[in-house]
Amino acid sequence: MVFSLPLLRSPAAPDAQGLPERFLLAADHYTNPRWIPIEQQAIFRRTWLYVGDSDRLLPGMVWAKSVAGAPLLIVRDKDGELRAFYNLCPHRAAILSPQAGLHSCQKLVCPYHAWVYDLAGDLVGVPSQDQFPESFQKEEFALRSLRLEIWSGFMFVCFDDSAPPLVEFLGSIPDYLGQHRTPATQPLATKQYTVACNWKNYHDNTLCDYHVAIAHRTTLNQVQGPIRHYQHQLEAFVNLLYTPTTADWQAENRILPTLEGRSREGFFTYGIYPNLHLLGLPNGLLAWLHIEPLTVESCQVFLDLYGDPDFCPPTETLLAEFEAFMQEDMVLTESVQQGYASGAYTPGPVNGLESRIIHQQKLIWDALAADGGAE
Ligand code: FES
Ligand SMILES: [Fe+2]
Repeated sequence: MVFSLPLLRSPAAPDAQGLPERFLLAADHYTNPRWIPIEQQAIFRRTWLYVGDSDRLLPGMVWAKSVAGAPLLIVRDKDGELRAFYNLCPHRAAILSPQAGLHSCQKLVCPYHAWVYDLAGDLVGVPSQDQFPESFQKEEFALRSLRLEIWSGFMFVCFDDSAPPLVEFLGSIPDYLGQHRTPATQPLATKQYTVACNWKNYHDNTLCDYHVAIAHRTTLNQVQGPIRHYQHQLEAFVNLLYTPTTADWQAENRILPTLEGRSREGFFTYGIYPNLHLLGLPNGLLAWLHIEPLTVESCQVFLDLYGDPDFCPPTETLLAEFEAFMQEDMVLTESVQQGYASGAYTPGPVNGLESRIIHQQKLIWDALAADGGAE
């Protein structure tokens, strides 16, 4: 990919806390549509991307969905094996399964010339095969696959063969949240929002530990407790805000008996590069927040809640709580988007409670800079 770097202005020198003095990304990164294809290539096609819960795919099922602009098929064959393929026929590039979403199927039949693939991606049927040259070998035209790995039942795909294994990418998450999902865990709720802000703007907000005690005083702050108890951990691709659960929370909730140590004592708020959040509580609740770019000034935010109904609050209560703080964030992020678009903003100083934003912005910065050097 060819693009010039002048928009990547040099970051300010780090101060005594190791943070740059100002945000690394300028307003232009949040408002200029030229970044959308660049980000797709440099960020989303180079790392692990959350695609959903493997329990949704029973044997013999196919899930057609678009990921980072690519049509994909996630498939579970009769033996339970999960695979990811491009939803694309190797003959003449027709979309194999045009219907988005989950459906059962024995075989994939291309709607154009009816080549037939099994759920392992192998080409098993070709109409008028005798009209192809003698050298034609079905084995050479299997569906093109991409990496799919699973952590705790949740599926991720990766377009880049050089990215580290998923478990390495997730850093300390498997250690701290690996026991939260039990055989009794179920999807409790799912919700989708369209927000009038750039995807990075919304992600910055979810990584912002500066505004919680102010903007979420009566919502999220009630669970996270006072700032003096905040503990940050910045890792290669994930960052963590750990807070001990408050006395109020402990009085109202039961703790999953299988959890140990820090996992049973605290609230884990993980930011995961590039567009994902995972929250975990000692009652076993796991909440994914997944931010998808739409346009340069809009994104979709998907909320997926998982837990054991015997330990977690009723779904209506949970949804009401999440809805309340997410509405607070939507107002703020849409307001910031207007500020970025004003042409009058240059990044202001960085507070220590914004260190997770800087961690994320550094990863984005490095990815864009690395891609700028490539053809
Ligand atoms: S494009 Fe699929 S069979 Fe020709
Ligand atoms: Fe927020």
